[in-house]
Amino acid sequence: MAKTIIVSNRLPIRVESLEDGKLSFVPSEGGLATGLGSVYKKGENIWLGWTGYYPKSLTEEQKIGDYLKSESMRPVALTLDDVKLFYEGFSNKVLWPNFHYFPQYIEYKNEYWEAYKRVNQKFCDEIVKYISEEDTIWVHDYQLLLLPEMIRLRFPKISIGYFNHIPFPSYEMFRLLPWRKELLNGLLGADLVGFHTYDDMRHFLSSVSRLAARSVKEQHVENGERVVLVDSFPMGIDYDKYESSAASPDTIAQEVLFRTSLQGKRVILSIDRLDYSKGIPQRLIAFESFLEKHPEFLNKVSLVMLVVPSRDNVEQYIQMKNEIDLLVGRINGQYGMMDWTPIHYFYRSLPLTKLSALYRIAEVAWVTPMRDGMNLVCKEFIASKLDKKGVLILSEMAGSAKELSDAILINPNNADKQVEALHLALTMPVEEQIRRNTIMQKSLRRYNISHWVEVFMSNLTKIKKEQKALEIRKLDKNDLDIISKEYNDSHRRLIFLDYDGTLTHFFPSPDEAKPDDELLDILKKLTEDSRNHVVIITGRGRDPIEEWMKDLRVSMICEHGLWLKAYGGEWKKLKDVDDDWKQEIHPVLDSYVSRTPGSFIEMKDYSLVWHFRKVELGLGELRSRELTSHLKYMARDRHLQVLEGDMVVEIKNFEVNKGSAAKKWMKKYPADFHFAIGDDWTDEDTFGAMPDSAITIKVGVQNSKARFNVESVDDVRALLLKMLS
Ligand code: UDP
Ligand code: G6P
Repeated sequence: MAKTIIVSNRLPIRVESLEDGKLSFVPSEGGLATGLGSVYKKGENIWLGWTGYYPKSLTEEQKIGDYLKSESMRPVALTLDDVKLFYEGFSNKVLWPNFHYFPQYIEYKNEYWEAYKRVNQKFCDEIVKYISEEDTIWVHDYQLLLLPEMIRLRFPKISIGYFNHIPFPSYEMFRLLPWRKELLNGLLGADLVGFHTYDDMRHFLSSVSRLAARSVKEQHVENGERVVLVDSFPMGIDYDKYESSAASPDTIAQEVLFRTSLQGKRVILSIDRLDYSKGIPQRLIAFESFLEKHPEFLNKVSLVMLVVPSRDNVEQYIQMKNEIDLLVGRINGQYGMMDWTPIHYFYRSLPLTKLSALYRIAEVAWVTPMRDGMNLVCKEFIASKLDKKGVLILSEMAGSAKELSDAILINPNNADKQVEALHLALTMPVEEQIRRNTIMQKSLRRYNISHWVEVFMSNLTKIKKEQKALEIRKLDKNDLDIISKEYNDSHRRLIFLDYDGTLTHFFPSPDEAKPDDELLDILKKLTEDSRNHVVIITGRGRDPIEEWMKDLRVSMICEHGLWLKAYGGEWKKLKDVDDDWKQEIHPVLDSYVSRTPGSFIEMKDYSLVWHFRKVELGLGELRSRELTSHLKYMARDRHLQVLEGDMVVEIKNFEVNKGSAAKKWMKKYPADFHFAIGDDWTDEDTFGAMPDSAITIKVGVQNSKARFNVESVDDVRALLLKMLS
């Protein structure tokens, strides 16, 4: 039976050794483990990862293995060296600070990178032991960015999803990493790449289009072989679990104990893993200034601050812990009273019952990370508020802020606003609290963790189907044989060949785009056969094509079908079209050229083209979108058409297109073999005009009216040679 294999660096269960030498299995902290932990166990599914423990003997290893097996998990053993260089090193001293915008903490060490590659390979070697071809692999988080590609190499057809639980940084930050291309290519081994927010997704796509040699079309990334879908899937929580835990008698008993110790003081709650991304010192400083500015709350409100130990061998984490200790000491020393502790600080991890009791007791949850992929604590707090009373203060820098707009949203760098927000939260009328929480609960209940898994998985299935549909059409050896046979059996062949991107790579400048010797040789062979009528059908102007083809027996259709010239004949226009519009449109294009260094205008007889291939990446795309909508607006009453090509925007008369020209040609030159090949959407008109029996071929892995797809210019040449052989 097909199963899903989840892989993450950390398993949802940690192994610890107790004083008496016995082993203890405790739930791991962190959004990934707590979020997915409750949904992965279905059918034969398994979860592979690290237990955080080094077994002391074979018997211990066996014991751990058995326990994990009973919980549908499998261990990946990391050595001390792996932990130091791969986990603490590359994962948490390179990727974590980079992805959270703390570049000053990055240690660019090659030995970390080497270990990262090695340990990703270790995960791959482990996982392949359990894989069968029909399984789905779901890789999680930044520690395993190379794993999708490694698995792909072993199982080319398998379904691989990847989800990034932390932010994906902007290109400006990501490009600091010397290993940026390898990391992107590693990830693009997946079929679906998911992020928490739209911005993370946008940042990723921007890095891919600038750094990896892949084409990005909206949310699809292509590499000629496979289309990868990229999308955002904001992660939810197990709503029912937190709701029912908040209602359980154990939690309520725990709440009573907490309330007694707190002697009736009002509670502000803060829960985080120890991390510089969480804004803990900033929060403490804001609390200090709140007490100073609002003495009416002295002896009335306490901050309960739970910090969960994390990565405590990494220098910045050790420093952060010291800083927190000092700040808490300072504030408690300054403001504390015999019967009041301003900050109750715990440096440990708590079980669910105690967490739920804290969520219940808190009037305010104060969640103010400097950066956070999602942040689940704030969602858990809202789900635990059975009476809908309580206020959430949330940082705009958390992914969850995009969904929880009814929280009090603040910028954690704005200390005054933090103080204001605390005051607002502590004085918010109950009806207002209920109003806000009702909205947030409704949304969190609906977009819960199961919903997240379902949507992710259905998108993975969708992209696999799309890949399959394209694959079926991908020209294979059998198709090649059939085409060759049809070719050989026919007597009058009409062969339409698009030029740029089909016969040769797309280069806007004529010098680069000239046909090379191999191409000239193929065209020569093709045209030498008197049964062949070869037509170059292109968007280019007449001059270069005529010059390049002067020694060949070819016909030509240029400017997207406007100009037609049969071999040995004269140039003729498809129809009489006027070009008065050029006087109006040219100044518009000119204004874009003045604002966009590197761009230029190409004048064709009946069309104008704005080229931006040499423009700074990003700026060209931005201006082309602007120009396209500007031109589309102008085109409406003028019977013009705007074409967005590869790094070009072209405007031309509407009636002129390759399809109309091809039709006219076919009427004049009947044939018993029709063949058309092209790479962009202007060629779709040619395909559409062809009879059903025609061999139509699209270059590139995209949907098309054509019957077949091939991947590249090289494939086109190989196909033509095969027909000729
Ligand atoms: N958590 C926990 N034990 C604790 C404190 C927190 O299991 O003592 C859990 C908390 O319930 C939440 C997760 O740790 O589900 C933290 O996830 P979040 O997304 O907020 O932050 P991350 O740690 O992933 O950066
Ligand atoms: C975040 C990361 C997880 C990680 C967790 C705990 O939630 O997204 O990948 O597991 O923190 O960190 P740790 O380093 O202890 O695994």
